[in-house]
Amino acid sequence: MVLVLLLVPEGSAVPHPPTRPRSALVVFESMFGNTGHLTRAVAAGLRGQGVDTLTLDVAIAAPPERVTADLLVLGAPTHSGSLSDITTRADAVRQGASSDRMIGGLREWLVHAHPDTAVHPGGVPVAAFDCRAHRLDPHRDAVDGAAPSALAMAGLQGFVPHAEPEVFYVRDLLGPLAPGEMERAAAWGRRLARALVGV
Ligand SMILES: Cc1cc2nc3c(=O)[nH]c(=O)nc-3n(C[C@H](O)[C@H](O)[C@H](O)COP(=O)(O)O)c2cc1C
Repeated sequence: MVLVLLLVPEGSAVPHPPTRPRSALVVFESMFGNTGHLTRAVAAGLRGQGVDTLTLDVAIAAPPERVTADLLVLGAPTHSGSLSDITTRADAVRQGASSDRMIGGLREWLVHAHPDTAVHPGGVPVAAFDCRAHRLDPHRDAVDGAAPSALAMAGLQGFVPHAEPEVFYVRDLLGPLAPGEMERAAAWGRRLARALVGV
């Protein structure tokens, strides 16, 4: 048997490994562009705190491989009180969204997404936000919506909740975003980043 000894001079501290920058993957769906705008603001908030951040649009993304990032962030519009499906996306297309966006949504992406437990034995943390319309969501504290649904699905896939679901508003079905929502999204991204690095 070969014994490997780690030689540390008596009295000296064991050196800490250098802290590496944290990484985040923000995966989003957007039929009319509003969740896309919010995603850019969330990503800017994360990057502003030094988190190496990639964004991925499910309409053009390849099927997911194992997620190796330190944080997964999910963003989607609320459709009929939940994540969209092919029927609600077809409805959005009838209302002017591009037909390229109809086939795959965040729900379908999540079915194939798993955390890379070889890189993160404790699991990959996940956070989620959704975009919804003021006039269709009069009960602001309702538990339903795309973000709670996305978090529940992600939990079943082995991701670990990192934050409460967050909600942003459009003024009407097609948009635009309600005033101040881009700033609120950037601030949420900063908060996620700070919780990730533990400061
Ligand atoms: C088929 C359909 C169903 C919707 N259902 C809801 C709903 O239940 N609650 C709500 O607040 N907004 C609802 N909306 C409004 C969407 O949330 C809104 O279009 C979306 O937030 C805009 O974001 P996007 O531009 O990223 O698609 C619905 C929209 C569509 C097209």
